[in-house]
Amino acid sequence: MRAEVEALIEELKRLRKSGVTRVNVSDAAIQSLKKFSKGSPVAATTRAAVLDSIPDRVRSASVKDFDKVLVETKTDTKKAAAKQTYGAKLPRPPSILLPEGDKRKRWEALREKVLECKTCNERVKPGKKVVFGIGNLDADIFFCGEAPGADEEIKGEPFVGKAGQLLNKMIGAMGLKREDVYIGNIMNWRPEMPTPTGNRPPTIEEMNFCLPYLKAQLEVVKPKLIVALGATAAKGLLGADSFRSLRELKGQWQTFEGVPVMPTYHPSYLLRNDTKRDKRSAWEDWLKVMEKAGMEISDRQQGFFL
Ligand code: URA
Repeated sequence: MRAEVEALIEELKRLRKSGVTRVNVSDAAIQSLKKFSKGSPVAATTRAAVLDSIPDRVRSASVKDFDKVLVETKTDTKKAAAKQTYGAKLPRPPSILLPEGDKRKRWEALREKVLECKTCNERVKPGKKVVFGIGNLDADIFFCGEAPGADEEIKGEPFVGKAGQLLNKMIGAMGLKREDVYIGNIMNWRPEMPTPTGNRPPTIEEMNFCLPYLKAQLEVVKPKLIVALGATAAKGLLGADSFRSLRELKGQWQTFEGVPVMPTYHPSYLLRNDTKRDKRSAWEDWLKVMEKAGMEISDRQQGFFL
C-alpha cells in the first residue's frame, strides 16, 4: 500500500518536474489520501483515482507541497473557477453556408459540421460529446437553452437531464410532444470547469462563437417563434447588454433575426424554485407562446397553477 502511495508521490514529483504546477484531485482521492496521511491504510485504487483525476489541461491546486494539495485542493478549485477567464482564446465565429436542398439535407449537413467543429471538439472532455439541436424540422416552436450539462454531453442531445424532463412535461402541458418542437442550445459544448462537477454559464465569447450554428438551425427550421429558456439564452440571442435581470424582459416579446422571442424561466430555475407562483408566472409566458403559435388553449390549460 505504502509503495502505491509512494509511487503516486513520485508521479506528482515527476509532473512537477515536467513543468506541471497545478493538478486536479477528485474528492474521493482526497478522502483516501487524507486517511493515508492520518496513518490508516489507503485504498488500493488511490493511485489510479488520483492519477485519473489529473486532467489533460491541468488546472487546480498547487503541487508545491504534497500535503498542501490534500488540504487546499477544494478551496483552490473554487478560487480557480472564479479567477479563470474562459473562452478568451476562441477563433472567430464560423461562417456557415448551408447547402441547397430540402430541410433534412440542410440540417444534416449542418449537424455534421457542428459535430466535426474543431473548436467545439477541443473543448469537450474526453469521452463526452458535442451537442447539436434536435426535433421537428417543421416545428413552429424553437426552444433555446443555454448549454449542455453533464447528462447532455454524455448523450449528445439537448435537455435530457432533470431540466429536460421538466421541459418535456411543460411541452406536454401545451398538448404537444417533445418530437413536435425543436430544441437547441446557444452552446454546442458543456462549458469547461476546473472541477469535475458543476456547471457555469458560457462566456460571451463562447456564445458568440456558437451563435452562427444556432442561427443556421433557425434558418433551416424557420420556426414561428423562439422560447429563450433563462437569462443566458436570452442574453445569447438578444445581446449581453440588452438587460440586467431576466425580470426586465420575461414574458415580453422580443425579436431575434426577425423571429419573435419569448424570454422565460429556465426549467432548472423552476426546479430550484418550485412554488406555485413561479410555475404560474412561467406558464403565463407559455400561454403567450401558445397564442402566438396559433394553438388552441383550453380552459383547463388557461387555469394551470392558479
Ligand atoms: N440546460 C440547458 O440550458 N441546456 C441543456 O441542454 C440542458 C440543460
